[in-house]
Amino acid sequence: MVLLEFRTLLYAQDMARLSAKKLFAVCFCASAFVFLIITLQVVEELGQFEQTTHTRPLKDREELTQIQAFPASAVLNDDGASPGSESSYPIIVWWSPLTGELGRLGECGHNRCFFTINKSYYSHSSTQAFLFYGTDFSIESLPLPRKPQHHWALFHEESPKNNYKLFHKPVITLFNHTATFSHHSHLPLTTQHLESLHTLTSHTFLLPLAQKNQLRRTLAPVVYVQSDCDPPSDRDVYVQELMKYIPVDSYGQCLHNKDLPIHLSDSTAMDEESFFQILAQYKFILAFENAICDDYITEKLWRPLKLGVVPVYYGAPNVHMWLPSNRSAIVVDPKQSPEKLAQYIQSLDKNDQEYLTYLDWKLKREVSNQRLFKELKERQWGVQDMTRDNFIDVFECMICNRVWENNNRLHEGLVPRVWQAEEHHLTCPPPKLFHFAVDHFNSSSLRYIWRASYEQSVREARALSRLTLRNRNFTATQFWREVFSD
Ligand SMILES: *[C@@H]1O[C@H](CO)[C@@H](O)[C@H](O)[C@H]1NC(C)=O
Ligand SMILES: *[C@@H]1O[C@H](CO)[C@@H](O)[C@H](O)[C@H]1NC(C)=O
Ligand SMILES: *[C@@H]1O[C@H](CO)[C@@H](O)[C@H](O)[C@H]1NC(C)=O
Ligand SMILES: *[C@@H]1O[C@H](CO)[C@@H](O)[C@H](O)[C@H]1NC(C)=O
Ligand SMILES: *[C@@H]1O[C@H](CO)[C@@H](O)[C@H](O)[C@H]1NC(C)=O
Repeated sequence: MVLLEFRTLLYAQDMARLSAKKLFAVCFCASAFVFLIITLQVVEELGQFEQTTHTRPLKDREELTQIQAFPASAVLNDDGASPGSESSYPIIVWWSPLTGELGRLGECGHNRCFFTINKSYYSHSSTQAFLFYGTDFSIESLPLPRKPQHHWALFHEESPKNNYKLFHKPVITLFNHTATFSHHSHLPLTTQHLESLHTLTSHTFLLPLAQKNQLRRTLAPVVYVQSDCDPPSDRDVYVQELMKYIPVDSYGQCLHNKDLPIHLSDSTAMDEESFFQILAQYKFILAFENAICDDYITEKLWRPLKLGVVPVYYGAPNVHMWLPSNRSAIVVDPKQSPEKLAQYIQSLDKNDQEYLTYLDWKLKREVSNQRLFKELKERQWGVQDMTRDNFIDVFECMICNRVWENNNRLHEGLVPRVWQAEEHHLTCPPPKLFHFAVDHFNSSSLRYIWRASYEQSVREARALSRLTLRNRNFTATQFWREVFSD
């Protein structure tokens, strides 16, 4: 919780600074005004996005006291910082931090590195890597000039809507190492919202079909729960159209038509068992992501699969790569009409045998997709599992080990390895709008902003890349001038 608050605080400060600088840009470019309106609205929207909590298992602190053969000079004081000692190890600076540690000696197998968020280590001769948390990545005060030994690493697990400019080739390729939702990245986080094979195949919440059919007397066949309305995927417009052809119980703020019990009306209740029990009564759940990119898969997909409800999924176009079996979700084709989809769902609603073919894998507890099976068996991190490293630990150690690998190579007179992020480590096509007639949306609606925001982010990415490759530090003013001279 403390971590979350710390991050939120940093985030708010960042946003305030960002807005101030953006205001400045207006002074020298009239066209900037349009972007300002867009950006400020985006910023406002971002304030409401679903925050993820990253907690570091206590394990780390315990490990610290267990390090054997510790150099005498490296005795840690209470807060984990150890003045003087850190220079015995490569120093790794979290430049836009995800965690709040002032200093920590991390152990990664045989290698140790000193991790800190203290930016004054920029000029320290042992500093070898800078880590950036994507959502908080700010163009201001980057660690420039970048020295030849400086690795840059990006950790970004969230939706593109939280920092579009990272999603373009000129920016993503500035980094050496990546951990993103893309399965192409160096540390793929594609299954970050799925705890285990066991939770996937579990029958804890599964209701027998006979009971679901009984419940159909009072419930719609389909349920939708979404309170982050009008995101880049334009899902609400699609769902609104779908609702003309099939009843949908919508409990969230978007397209709301049914209330949750009072004790669940708080958004923190979304992880409560009694909420899952409500969802599990339905035959179908609309699982629509907020953005449409390959490998961008969230709990929206995994939740219905865990509960034993058939997901009607709109999101990652390559979702088939990750589904437990080849018949476990109805995948929405955006080119097909919602009316057709409604007809299909209705046909399954009336035909028990056909409906059950989508739950066959669940009833047999069988994950036939070898890729998913292998990924969950082999990934080095756990999800909500205090007994295992989390993906932040694994990311930090990947960088620490790579830094050490090069140091060792240099020591042995070998050429150091080169790591380079590629475009497909973080990419997402421009957001598209559906073209259905809409009633409750109007021109102030957020849905019109995403495309412009995306186009703006392309210019920002080019400017950021040009300035960074110049390898001199730059001010926000210089950055915005560069953006608008594009
Ligand atoms: C950051 O590190 C410098 C030494 O490099 C130290 O003097 C300073 O107190 C540290 N700042 C914080 C907030 O710990
Ligand atoms: C789907 O998987 C089942 C069992 O794993 C297999 O028998 C079937 O041929 C597959 N169907 C398709 C269309 O791939
Ligand atoms: C990191 O990336 C930069 C820029 O692409 C490159 O010049 C440098 O050699 C890379 N460093 C390593 C250790 O891969
Ligand atoms: C447009 O939508 C906003 C928010 O939904 C609403 O407050 C406003 O009254 C609407 N304007 C018109 C002209 O319908
Ligand atoms: C750029 O670096 C120089 C030298 O380290 C410093 O004096 C200056 O304040 C920096 N400028 C910015 C915009 O950070």
